[in-house]
Amino acid sequence: MRMPMIAGNWKMNTTVGEAIELVNEMRSRLDEIDNVDKVICPPFISLATVKELIKGSSIKLGAQNIYFEEKGAYTGEISPLMLTELCEFVIIGHSERRQYFNETDEIINKKGQSALKVGLKPILCIGERLEQNEAGLTAEVVTKQLRSALVGIDDLSKMIIAYEPIWAIGTGRAATGKQANNTIGFIRQTISQLYDKGIAQNVRILYGGSVTAANASDFVQQYEIDGALVGGASLKTNEFLSIVRLTSEIKGSLRG
Ligand code: PGA
Repeated sequence: MRMPMIAGNWKMNTTVGEAIELVNEMRSRLDEIDNVDKVICPPFISLATVKELIKGSSIKLGAQNIYFEEKGAYTGEISPLMLTELCEFVIIGHSERRQYFNETDEIINKKGQSALKVGLKPILCIGERLEQNEAGLTAEVVTKQLRSALVGIDDLSKMIIAYEPIWAIGTGRAATGKQANNTIGFIRQTISQLYDKGIAQNVRILYGGSVTAANASDFVQQYEIDGALVGGASLKTNEFLSIVRLTSEIKGSLRG
């Protein structure tokens, strides 16, 4: 049985003060919701503070990026090793990093390997652009991204995958539950070919792209979808709480 997960990607939002406020607002209500992993990913500068604020709660912490080297003369970068003291997860391969910071599949693969080496759990994002989707290339694109990202990685037990169609991110135009379920089913099949069926059945795969309280149930009621990577809606307390609560309830009732 795969544990559902809702991860909030705050992106480049919130000052430290605002992060404190947001965590204080959601902490106790979020903590009450069971049977779903609740992860928040604030900016680097707030990680240490937020870590203290969520101490003793069931809320987990993630970072939004890393550099793949362990340490050295890389001005401005943060290494996986540094993050191990602060958080459990790290988002890698987000389409915004691929698009604005020229991250290639090779770089993302290095980031994944270096995160796993120190015990950080990567949330690996893959997804196609609108024109690729319209040209029927979704399967081909996600397969290529997945294969490249997983080169040299033998153990998937610490890896989470997020299918995030780029055309759905921040646009208010989410995929449908069915569409996302199909692609995620396909991703699972690819993992089954690359590893084996058992590994593919155990790896958690999230959907991301304009997930809100209004459409979350459409995604989490799908068999292949284990939860969501939430951007904009993760900055709104009630919205985020609703998504987490819905996920816990729906996945719970599907389990029977
Ligand atoms: P969004 O972002 O929910 O604002 O579309 C999702 C993401 O980029 O992870």
